Amino acid sequence: MNIKKICCIGAGYVGGPTMAVIAQKCPLINVTVVDINTDRIAAWNSNDLSKLPVYEPDLDSIIKEARGRNLFFSTEVDNAIDAADMIFISVNTPTKTYGKGKGLAADLKYIELCARQIARVSRQDKIVVEKSTLPVRTASAIKSILDNTGNGVQFQILSNPEFLAEGTAVKDLLEPDRVLIGGDSTKEGKGAIQSLVDIYANWVPKDRILTTNVWSSELSKLTANAFLAQRVSSINAMSVICEKTGADINEVSKAIGMDSRIGPKFLESSVGFGGSCFQKDILNLVYIAKSYGLNEVADYWEQVILMNDYQKNRFSDNIVSTLYNTVSGKKITFLGWAFKKDTNDTRESAAIQVADNLLNERAYIEVYDPKVTEERIYADLEHLNSRNPEENRELLKIRQNPYQASENSHAIAVLTEWDEFKTFDWQKIYDNMKKPAFIFDGRGILDTKTLEKIGFICYQIGSGTKA
Ligand code: NAD
Ligand code: UDX
Repeated sequence: MNIKKICCIGAGYVGGPTMAVIAQKCPLINVTVVDINTDRIAAWNSNDLSKLPVYEPDLDSIIKEARGRNLFFSTEVDNAIDAADMIFISVNTPTKTYGKGKGLAADLKYIELCARQIARVSRQDKIVVEKSTLPVRTASAIKSILDNTGNGVQFQILSNPEFLAEGTAVKDLLEPDRVLIGGDSTKEGKGAIQSLVDIYANWVPKDRILTTNVWSSELSKLTANAFLAQRVSSINAMSVICEKTGADINEVSKAIGMDSRIGPKFLESSVGFGGSCFQKDILNLVYIAKSYGLNEVADYWEQVILMNDYQKNRFSDNIVSTLYNTVSGKKITFLGWAFKKDTNDTRESAAIQVADNLLNERAYIEVYDPKVTEERIYADLEHLNSRNPEENRELLKIRQNPYQASENSHAIAVLTEWDEFKTFDWQKIYDNMKKPAFIFDGRGILDTKTLEKIGFICYQIGSGTKA
């Protein structure tokens, strides 16, 4: 099928940037991104490009180029589905918070709602593409809904998981390591796969477009995230040993990363991984393994999450014990709240857990993050239900600059690796802090030698040089 019109359901961190790049690279295809969240759509349509709902380097210029030409953001879901030859489903698939599989399984209610809506609205044959991350074999559920509740039109289901990472979404989309497309091996299935291959082939080299069966494609996405998260937990596990023994995690990472079988990427020790994907997808994998009675497999992957929880908790424990076993009434400055640099996303950010632990110890926190909004930070804390919203607002304040946030502070905790933190006037920060002035660098980005010369007492994750 020669695709002329695409609809994408879900204008989030994946749907927005992914469709913007498809629209930019395929000017002859009309791309409409729809969402039920009217505020989000309004923000995507904002004339002020700094108000886009997703912050990603270089995304604004792509939106500027394509929006209104062949890229549209709309709340009129039915119309966009009806008009499209190809529909991407890019809605959220969070961890279930109720019923069977609570706390582990992916909640597929939004996916099912999309499938039912597509079935109800469609009047001609369509290709439906799973862009969301889904448990293996979800395509059969989607197909069953489409075939049994539709108007007799033919649907082909493809799996096309997204591998972009936030903060580098545009680069990842423009130059992907690979594009993965899973589909049926029937004649119609192969035709649908080819239609999607043709779209990506506008800018992705053919040898990077991989086609598989649907189940392999679905499972590859969960597998990739599990492997990546496992690397972070593995290096974080070694960071503790470094701190106890006098080894240095950066030196260890470099030494092992030069082994071409291991490779240098994703070996940065941190206060713990965050983001909307790693934890959710591993929990989902654990659930799938358990549902097949594969308890050893489930336990193996669950350990990646347990290690991550340990890393976050030991970071806050260390702050408390270093500050003479009490932080009650003490001011602690958080540099960063986002789960990584160059994004305004805070989902599952380690900062949230660390803040909660310190607030439980009655610390007073002031946060500076260059991109995360005040409402977002309070919403993250409220979501925990650890204390009432008024208490959260009393015990934690958000500041617009690091100097204000660190005034009279007992300690600074670096939670996100924003580049600008390296360029601060650290002497000025030191002068205005309570003494002794402590820094807890949970990202290993600061030059501790220079900071120690100024007078700071420094703790850096995985650095055992003082042991
Ligand atoms: P998101 O929460 O940012 O966006 C999802 C959007 O879908 C929301 O705006 C929501 O309002 C909308 N939506 C939900 N149900 C809808 C419906 N019935 N009709 C119309 N709109 C609806 O989520 P995201 O981060 O973009 O993730 C989407 C999917 O992609 C998830 O499955 C996720 O696991 C996967 N994924 C995410 C990333 C990432 O970096 N965030 C990367 C790869 C894959
Ligand atoms: C991840 C996957 O990388 C991406 O392929 C998938 O599509 C979505 O999930 P994302 O969560 O956006 O992407 O960011 P990523 O760069 O993977 O970082 C995840 C977390 O791990 C962040 O909190 C990051 O700070 C942390 N991390 C990453 C480390 O602590 N150390 C590292 O070496 C790498």
